[in-house]
Amino acid sequence: MPIKGLEDNAIKTSINTLNARLADTISVRLALKQAHWNVKGPNFIAIHELFDEVAARVATHEDTMAEQVQTLGGQAVGTAEAVVKATKVKPYPTDLVQSEDHIRAVCDRMADLGSRVRNAITEVTDAGDDDTADIFVDYSRQLDKDLWFIESHLGEAPKFA
Ligand SMILES: [Fe+2]
Repeated sequence: MPIKGLEDNAIKTSINTLNARLADTISVRLALKQAHWNVKGPNFIAIHELFDEVAARVATHEDTMAEQVQTLGGQAVGTAEAVVKATKVKPYPTDLVQSEDHIRAVCDRMADLGSRVRNAITEVTDAGDDDTADIFVDYSRQLDKDLWFIESHLGEAPKFA
């Protein structure tokens, strides 16, 4: 069923952008689980639990993006094999142990994903799909907040103080 008021090229842009960020998001969620399972060191319980909470929040946005693809009449692509080919996120190392190493590796990938989601807002807005843009805005805000939660464990001074 066609979406009223949306041009076909806008719909195609949104479907492609949603599937691209879906692949990135699945990579980051699995990185968060890898970190959750393997982390050791200072603040163990706090950081172990936080990684899992963030993975769960990321999963809700994953679902929203995949279901928006359906709303637009597309095909969501989220298998492990497809994600490996499509993700733009750097592979997560499987030998990390120390909490600081996991925090830095996770933050690096979340910041990268955050910038891609910000670009996605612009891409779908320019194509004329404000609803999909709203999904990315919501996701972007959550990613920024979770990045702050995780990064704060490093105890670094604010950049703009
Ligand atoms: Fe767990």
